Formats: sequence, C-alpha cells, structure tokens
Amino acid sequence: MNSVLIGVGAALPKKCVLNTELPVELNTSDEWIVQRTGVRQRYISETETTASLATCAAQNAINHAKLSNNNIDLIIVATVTGDYTFPSTASIVQRELDIKHGIAFDISAACSGFVYAIDIADTYIKSGKSKCALVIGAETFSKIVDWNDRSTCVLFGDGAGAIVLQAQDTIDRGVQYCKLYSDGKYADCLKTSGGTSTTQTSGFVQMDGREVFKFAIEKFTSSLKELLIDNNMTIDDVDLLVPHQANTRIIEKLIEASGIKKEKVVMTVDMHSNTSAASIPLALNEIKRDLFAKKNVVLLSMGAGFTWGSSLIRM
Ligand code: ACO
Repeated sequence: MNSVLIGVGAALPKKCVLNTELPVELNTSDEWIVQRTGVRQRYISETETTASLATCAAQNAINHAKLSNNNIDLIIVATVTGDYTFPSTASIVQRELDIKHGIAFDISAACSGFVYAIDIADTYIKSGKSKCALVIGAETFSKIVDWNDRSTCVLFGDGAGAIVLQAQDTIDRGVQYCKLYSDGKYADCLKTSGGTSTTQTSGFVQMDGREVFKFAIEKFTSSLKELLIDNNMTIDDVDLLVPHQANTRIIEKLIEASGIKKEKVVMTVDMHSNTSAASIPLALNEIKRDLFAKKNVVLLSMGAGFTWGSSLIRM
C-alpha cells in the first residue's frame, strides 16, 4: 500500500504587500530585501485566520482530487500559528469541511512541519489506519513577527497549502521515502520570545539569521545526498525539487552544492515570502499543472528546533 498524491490546493489572504509598501518607519528597502532574501511581496491576513486559510486550501485540494469531503479520514495541520492554543486547527478544519469521522490533529515542527506531517500521514496509510489523508501546512506568521524589527518582519508572510494522499495498491507511485531529523541543541537559534507556559503570550519571532543560513544550506545539502544514496538515485533522477522557501540565496547555494539543474528547482519565495509550514504546499500548488507529469519529486525542509527532513514522492 502506498500514499499516492492525488490532489493539491492552496489559499492566500486577499491582501498582498509589496516591499515598497512596507511602513517607512521600518527603514528598509526593496533593494535590500530582494538582494538578501529574494522576497518581493508577502500576503498578510486581515479577516483570514490560519484555520480559514487551511480550510480553503483543503477544500481546493479535495476538489482537485475529485473526491468528496467524506472520503477524508485523517487531517493533519502543520502549523505553529494556530487559531487557538486548543482545540487544534485541524479540528476546526474538520468541522468546517463537515467531516464527521476519522481523526484530526496539529503538529508543530515550524518550517519543517509539512514534511513531518507527510511522514506521519504516510505511516498511517501504510499501516492501514487511514485510507485518505489531508496534509495541510498553514500559517499566519504576520501575527507573530515584531513589526518594529526589520531584520525578521520583512521575511515572513501568511498562507496555506494542502495535499490529498490516498492509499493505493501500488509500489511504483506515491511516497517512496521520508526521513526526518532534529537537533534540539539549536532550539534557541530560531524561536519566539514567549509562549503559553512562559509569558502567556505567543511572543515574537527571534532568529540568529546567520546560524539559520549556514545550517539550512548544510542540512538541505546533506539530506538530499542521503535521500539519493538511500534510493539508489543520482541527482539527474530528480525531476523536481521543492525546498522550503525561506530565502533565494539558501536555495541557490543548494543548487550549487548539489549540481541539480536550476530549472528543476521550484522557487516561489519572491511571490509568497517565507510562509513556514505552508511554503512547500504553496509551491506545489504553483506548479500543479506540471507536477503530475513529473516522476520523482523531492521535498526538502528545515526549520526551528532545528528540525529538517526530506521526502521522495513518485507521481
Ligand atoms: N532592511 C535594511 N537593512 C536591514 C534589514 C532590513 N530589512 N535587516 C537588517 N538590516 C541591516 C542590519 O541592521 C545590518 O546593518 P549594520 O551592518 O549597519 O549593522 C545589515 O543589514 C546586515 O545585517 P545582517 O543581519 O548581518 O544581514 P545578513 O547579511 O546576515 O542577512 C538575513 C540577514 C537575510 C536574515 C540572513 O542572515 C539570512 O538570510 N538568514 C537566513 C534566515 C532565514 O531565511 N530565516 C527564515 C526563517 S528560518 C527558516 O525558514 C528555515
């Protein structure tokens, strides 16, 4: 039994903010942001919430898969910006989609969350516990950045993306491989300044930018290498590479180090900015038309913790 990707969907807030439209008090510039990060604009939620974006992305993915909502028996939302401390955002999505069976829960692995959630869903499907899973990455990072801190607030944005994984009796298609990693030694390099049990607030994003930069390049490169070895593949066997969209410079270093052809690498950081767990499914949605014509699709993620991971999906 394999977890076959049969649907992709996404949702973005209505409001799009260009670099040139950021508040003047931030004392930043389009030139600085584009040159250091590749970001040209970000979507910022006003009426939308993480759950409403997640629900919309999920419905689009279910429609794309040509299923009905009742086919879904597992909902996993990867997020660190849920609507409430509890219930989970996944429970709200389940209610909004009028799904009355199966299970729903959130997972927290920051920007690595989507790949972590794929691994969990795949394990449920391969064990026979789920027949059809919704895997969602949804975030509203605009609510947890300090809008007075130009070194972090210009990097992030809001959005949601979702995929449907269906149990099918095949070995050729579907999730072939998932490998997750974590090293809590780096927990303080990328974190919020507060939380429920410490400050009773969500806190603001704090980041050691240079450490994140170095670590992301190193781990993107090493986990891709490991994936190729473990699956007896060369870099030329990868048809599409979708890395977490943190920063164009990080992705360009990965291209250089891995030797992959640039046209095989998806880059959407200019359009969406860094949307944490939502960045990979938002990127998948952008290339939806080509995605299903590819064979080997590789996802790479890295985020707070530090956490990182890779996945090989055969279409
Ligand atoms: N606009 C203008 N100037 C700025 C801005 C801004 N938005 N932010 C910082 N600066 C200034 C700083 O004040 C500093 O000025 P100074 O030299 O007068 O002191 C100067 O720019 C250089 O600052 P650095 O922090 O040293 O800049 P750096 O070249 O390291 O770039 C950046 C910062 C872009 C954050 C970089 O470290 C980076 O890309 N890190 C990766 C982090 C990342 O992508 N995080 C995303 C979340 S993590 C994840 O998704 C995995």
